[in-house]
Amino acid sequence: MKITAITIFPEYFTPLSLSLIGKAVSEGIIEIAISNLRDFASGNHKSVDDTPYGGGAGMVMRPDIWADAIDAISDSDADPNRIIDLIILTPAGKRFSQEDAKALSQSEHLLFAAGRYEGIDARVGEHYKSQPRFRVHYFSIGDYVLNGGEVAAIVMIEAIVRLLPGVLGNPDSLLEESHNEIGLLEYPVYTKPPIWRGLEVPAVLLSGNHGEIARWRQISSKLRD
Ligand code: ADE
Repeated sequence: MKITAITIFPEYFTPLSLSLIGKAVSEGIIEIAISNLRDFASGNHKSVDDTPYGGGAGMVMRPDIWADAIDAISDSDADPNRIIDLIILTPAGKRFSQEDAKALSQSEHLLFAAGRYEGIDARVGEHYKSQPRFRVHYFSIGDYVLNGGEVAAIVMIEAIVRLLPGVLGNPDSLLEESHNEIGLLEYPVYTKPPIWRGLEVPAVLLSGNHGEIARWRQISSKLRD
């Protein structure tokens, strides 16, 4: 899977070189490229935004600069036939869920558009919706407003990449999570020591009775609201 992000703050994406995602990159499971939107801006100030038509507070990111950045990525794609899932991060988007992560984990190329200010000119999404190589998605990671889409993109990348074969050390973790899709949150977990500050691990977990343990875990999983 190829993952590209366009941003005016490439440094935001440095954590992707750590831990399991960094390992997935070094093992060739994913390829990550970060593109600096300012490289496509002109003039002394390399400005990427302008005042909103219709007035109002803040600035809006210009469609021409975004399209130059997106086109450069699609034109230089190693496989010119693969579909690009263009993900526009916005608090007005669809709330990102585990189901979305699973669907997007099938993608060959995810392109994250991390906007800043009051957002990206609406014509960008509109234009790429009509391009056969692109599927356009608008996603929010929750009902709050961030300073930009970078952190939201990292959240989505982590949720998607851990679903790819070979990324998790123990793929059974995914199996247990998929059971939870029936609407249960994970059960409480314990490790050594068996008594800590007067608090004991539930006896059933020390019993060795796998049937009882499975039943206890199911009962102890909290129902999602
Ligand atoms: N940009 C600003 N806030 C956001 C959010 N909650 N989700 C995705 N992108 C955003």
